Amino acid sequence: MTTAALSAPTPVQMEPANFLNLLIVDDERAIREVCREVAQSLGFNTAVADSAEHAYRLLDTQNIDVVLLDLKLPGASGLEALHQIGERKPDAVIVVVTGYGTVQSAVQAMKNGAYDYVTKPFSMEELRLLLERVSDHLKLKTENRTLREKIKSKLGFGSIVGRAPEMEKLYRIIGKAAHSSHPVLILGESGTGKEMVARSIHFSGPFRDKPFIPVDCGSLVPTLIESELFGYVKGAFTGAVQSRDGLLAIAEGGTVFLDEVGELPVDLQAKLLRAIQEREIRPVGSTKRIAINVRILAATNRDLEQAVAQGTFRRDLYFRLNVLSLKIPPLRERRQDIPLLTGYFLERLSRDSGHERSLSDDAMKALLAHDWPGNVRELENCLERACAFTSGPVIHQADLPSAIHGAPFIRRTEATARPKSCPWRNWRNTPS
Ligand SMILES: Nc1ncnc2c1ncn2[C@@H]1O[C@H](COP(=O)(O)OP(=O)(O)OP(=O)(O)O)[C@@H](O)[C@H]1O
Ligand SMILES: [Mg+2]
Repeated sequence: MTTAALSAPTPVQMEPANFLNLLIVDDERAIREVCREVAQSLGFNTAVADSAEHAYRLLDTQNIDVVLLDLKLPGASGLEALHQIGERKPDAVIVVVTGYGTVQSAVQAMKNGAYDYVTKPFSMEELRLLLERVSDHLKLKTENRTLREKIKSKLGFGSIVGRAPEMEKLYRIIGKAAHSSHPVLILGESGTGKEMVARSIHFSGPFRDKPFIPVDCGSLVPTLIESELFGYVKGAFTGAVQSRDGLLAIAEGGTVFLDEVGELPVDLQAKLLRAIQEREIRPVGSTKRIAINVRILAATNRDLEQAVAQGTFRRDLYFRLNVLSLKIPPLRERRQDIPLLTGYFLERLSRDSGHERSLSDDAMKALLAHDWPGNVRELENCLERACAFTSGPVIHQADLPSAIHGAPFIRRTEATARPKSCPWRNWRNTPS
């Protein structure tokens, strides 16, 4: 290798250990020494090799996370050395060192798997910044891997993600509800996962092979809800050219999920109550009653007790639906689940798009600070947007919607105070 003048050393501060092992491969002792000094100041454990052969021997016997490889070693082709290192340590990050005016070879090396390059002569500061970047990259990679493993083994209940104590309590109730046939009233703000919970109750119960039929009482016009739920006979109304079974009959043996049940008109509330109590329905326009065998789950984001007090929801139906009830906490009251949910959604989005995505610390802090009025759905949408608009592998705070990255860092109020253990610590490698 030819000479490579290193510019005057800048004072370097000692950093805490990062536990990464760096192998410096260079035939020039002065360069090895300077690289070693900078790397050690950043907390790397270092090993040195003065030839490609020497490097291979070390790689075969030691744990190496990062290799700083001079592309111009005597008697060895730089690209061949790169290939050999990649073969021996596929997960190692390789940074190549090239001579001035040979950037072309660095580009070639990066095409062949090198992570980055530095051109001689380089300053200690340049090297220091480069190694810091490598260290951050590896930490993020480890965090993402740890998170993925954690997610696989500790997601929550079925496909419901969350390990907050309130969620654990919820899973216990879901487990019980799944094995009973009573109606269940699922309460929670918009986007908290009410439909997910309804599905979990159905699909973890003994009748999972029977139909699960959701009915959105909020978006259908009243006459349509009635004919959808109870069915109709031919000629019952204009356009009823043939009879049709109602969903309460079609779901035979399974579940009908009445979403936004609070929006049900009062006259239909009476019909529904009768259907649940008597286990039979009368299709629109028919005089005959049909027996039904169906489990009712209902959800609402409205305060039904208040609706009862105001006379817009029947008290008797409320009691019927409310045999078992469960309330899903809003996301702002279980902020410790934000990292887990984020990891889960990013993993899914990465898989769908084929591009691995991770989140920077500043972005995670912004997610933790936001109040999430739209709850988990809002978080899911926010990450979807961020992935769509970010070209690189890491999503930064600035890539998040302005409503989120503009949030002041952790607003502490009675309702939103963070738990004592710092939630984004859990997102890191600490076991939960
Ligand atoms: N705990 C969770 N784990 C994983 N995904 C979740 C969770 N909670 C909600 N989601 C996702 O968030 C979105 C909204 O969930 P869902 O439709 O069940 O909420 P909802 O309470 O019924 O909302 P709305 O009141 O607006 O109908 C869905 O895409 C769902 O997959
Ligand atoms: Mg819903």
